[in-house]
Amino acid sequence: MGRLDDKVAIISGGAKGQGAAEVELFAAEGAKVVFGDVLDDEGKKVEARIAELGGEVEYVHLDVTSDEDWRKAVDLAESKYGRVDILVNNAGISLRHQDMDISNEDWDNVMDVNAKGVFLGTRHVIPAMQRAGGGSIVNISSIAGILGRPLASPAYAASKGAVRVFTKSTAGRFASDGIRCNSIHPGPIDTDMIRAATNSIRPETRVGEIPMGRLGRVDDIAFGALYLACDESAFVTATELVIDGGVTGIRP
Ligand SMILES: NC(=O)c1ccc[n+]([C@@H]2O[C@H](COP(=O)([O-])OP(=O)(O)OC[C@H]3O[C@@H](n4cnc5c(N)ncnc54)[C@H](O)[C@@H]3O)[C@@H](O)[C@H]2O)c1
Repeated sequence: MGRLDDKVAIISGGAKGQGAAEVELFAAEGAKVVFGDVLDDEGKKVEARIAELGGEVEYVHLDVTSDEDWRKAVDLAESKYGRVDILVNNAGISLRHQDMDISNEDWDNVMDVNAKGVFLGTRHVIPAMQRAGGGSIVNISSIAGILGRPLASPAYAASKGAVRVFTKSTAGRFASDGIRCNSIHPGPIDTDMIRAATNSIRPETRVGEIPMGRLGRVDDIAFGALYLACDESAFVTATELVIDGGVTGIRP
């Protein structure tokens, strides 16, 4: 028996990295998964790979800044699988610039994808979860949304801080509908993002700041998302799950 048997999930940013790991794990645990991204070729490959493993997954083009794309994703989940129980707002982008020298456009872009994207996904999925009698929303924030991290761009940190508080606000508003909402705060995870964000700094050089002595792996986050998505966390809402190898909790 899977931990997500009979559940229907929507996952954003599922074409690679943490999102692809979540799609694969959720499908392996019995969920039917509609997942989206802006990288359609990569998304289709993930869909084909998981289908070969026997998973029930469906890729859809989903730019998280688009109301229309969200509407289509939720419609697809409901028409094909009958309901929506889980949303993982995973899609995100980072910025190379660490300081205040970013353009207004870069600021807007990061806030659009990382913060507004979470808002739009939540707004579109809530009515479907109300129809289903409840649900679980998992928002992927960052430890940069909790701490002032020298290596994180201020715009990125602001967008992730917005996700952190929006999560609690959503949890408070919809607890009475049986809809839970929690945030995950990954530390440095070994994906394309950390390689792009750290720019000329090799990700491996960041291992020194991590008490556990290694970068996080995509499955470290996917297992946290699985716990918050499934019924084992039925009494958990408005919480922050930090998965960072001890970065925020242990002072050197
Ligand atoms: N890697 C890290 O160190 C780290 C740390 C903390 C938080 N995070 C967060 O984890 C999440 C997943 O990131 P990742 O590490 O897997 O990086 P990644 O770059 O491998 O994956 C991000 C995915 O989001 C997609 N995406 C970007 N813009 C999109 C849009 N407008 N609409 C839909 N999809 C879009 C990308 O195409 C990509 O598939 C992000 O929210 C990120 O901010 C990552």
